[in-house]
Amino acid sequence: MKNIASLLGNRNKFLIFGCGFSGSFFAKTIRRYGCIALTSSRSANKDPESFVFNSENDIVPDKKIFDGVTHILSCIPPDKNGNDPVLGILQSKLQSLSLEWVGYLSTTGVYGNTKGDWVSESDQPNPFQKRSHNRLNCEKEWIKSGLPVQIFRLPGIYGPGRSTFEAIKNQKIRVISKKDQVFSRIHVADITNAIIYILQNKDFLKFHQIINIADDEPCSQIEVIQYCYDLLGLKMPKPILFEDAKKELSSIAQSFWMENRRVSNKLLCETLGYKLIYKNYKLGLKNCFLNS
Ligand SMILES: NC(=O)c1ccc[n+]([C@@H]2O[C@H](COP(=O)([O-])OP(=O)(O)OC[C@H]3O[C@@H](n4cnc5c(N)ncnc54)[C@H](OP(=O)(O)O)[C@@H]3O)[C@@H](O)[C@H]2O)c1
Repeated sequence: MKNIASLLGNRNKFLIFGCGFSGSFFAKTIRRYGCIALTSSRSANKDPESFVFNSENDIVPDKKIFDGVTHILSCIPPDKNGNDPVLGILQSKLQSLSLEWVGYLSTTGVYGNTKGDWVSESDQPNPFQKRSHNRLNCEKEWIKSGLPVQIFRLPGIYGPGRSTFEAIKNQKIRVISKKDQVFSRIHVADITNAIIYILQNKDFLKFHQIINIADDEPCSQIEVIQYCYDLLGLKMPKPILFEDAKKELSSIAQSFWMENRRVSNKLLCETLGYKLIYKNYKLGLKNCFLNS
């Protein structure tokens, strides 16, 4: 498989909707490749490479922001009515541009509960939570838009500044044990690098509209927390059984424990040939530990 870095050149202009954790990591990285990357946030700030977009009060970007745009990446979740904030307001604008590529960050929540079984892109989505039904509808809207869109389904995202270490430091950690429960994860750097890999090699790779980006080793939360305590040289608190902890969890936190699945990355890593930077939580957390 060829990997031609120069294919992501400075003639490309990216608009990144939603400059949160993943969006800002992506923007910083592709700027290093020489691309122009403008990012949106809901309120004005001093960053000259940022523009304001807020679907909640219909604040749309100035027309000139769209000049010469070749690529779009949307990192914004569905709004409180379940609609896609970007398509809801900017669909015709995006359709009027000569876009080479559009990326949409979605979630593996659309697969629902597989009771611990592996799930891949060829499996029928089976959303369980309301938010996952909304997400699946947004995916469908992006596909229906006719834009050259690729959808990336992501499990729990972590990286420097947002990981179990922060939860431990902020004393927000709950060590919960639930039999046979696993979670899939992805380091933020692998989201960015996998997308860049696909863009760099798009002339050589078969186009797939939906791609999971997950690491190789879904595992229990306790293993992850234990590993962080070990790196910190601290003793992990005694685990609480999920049934006992449940009543103190927010409904959103509870809902995460209601689904149990192992997300397959075979399409990305075997068929398409992407090599993960952080194959498992140990490698990824070591990176967070060294950069926090
Ligand atoms: N976090 C996870 O573990 C996880 C797992 C799977 C999938 N995902 C999904 O993957 C995507 C990226 O996740 P992330 O954690 O990197 O996101 P994030 O840090 O939460 O950032 C979300 C971004 O969306 C913007 N935004 C939210 N509502 C908006 C609206 N109505 N109009 C305009 N902008 C709006 C926010 O603007 P401001 O910057 O102004 O706040 C922020 O920049 C999201 O769709 C997320 O739901 C996340």
